[in-house]
Amino acid sequence: MEDSAKVAVLVSGGGTNLQALIDKIREGRLEEAKIVKVISSRPDAFALERARKAGIDTAVAAEQDEVLKELKASGADIVVLAGYMKVLPPEIIESYRNRIINIHPSLIPKYCGKGFYGMRVHRAVIEAGEKESGATVHYVDEGVDTGKIILQRRVPVIEGDTPETLAARVLETEHEILAEGLKEVIKNIKKDEGGK
Ligand code: GRF
Repeated sequence: MEDSAKVAVLVSGGGTNLQALIDKIREGRLEEAKIVKVISSRPDAFALERARKAGIDTAVAAEQDEVLKELKASGADIVVLAGYMKVLPPEIIESYRNRIINIHPSLIPKYCGKGFYGMRVHRAVIEAGEKESGATVHYVDEGVDTGKIILQRRVPVIEGDTPETLAARVLETEHEILAEGLKEVIKNIKKDEGGK
């Protein structure tokens, strides 16, 4: 892997996590990474607009074989799922084993897996009366939110929180730990490659 790891980011929605990576790279706080492509599962994802504004190559790929083709074409070393709402097929997991990471808005293994995404996560946390929630960066394997955890950070649930107010607080932490988690993964890959 070259000095800056080539990163492809998979998105489906607003792209605030993508924006956090773009901003940190621009501010020189994530020099280890270079975003080479943003691939969206939906043509109307605002994340695509964020990528275009940052001069990053974009693609829309609804079918998984298209996703693999776009990933290969991008030359990405690492794949980041940032608000990506599809489950990757085994051939993509296999092609990028231990090089795909995801950001999830809860303290995995709580409130994750099938059906736990976006506002549903925060609603379940509040309905359960939890005093804290958080965000998790983890490797992606064949399961849903089941890969090895890289980094987690706790976030308080405040009296009177709605799913929306909790989501906003957790999202801030997501933005921080996604970049930290990506740094960690790049370091691990370089170590495995013997610091080539
Ligand atoms: C975030 O809560 C993320 O954890 C989840 O999707 C939400 C939106 O992410 N996967 P983004 O603003 O599109 O990055």
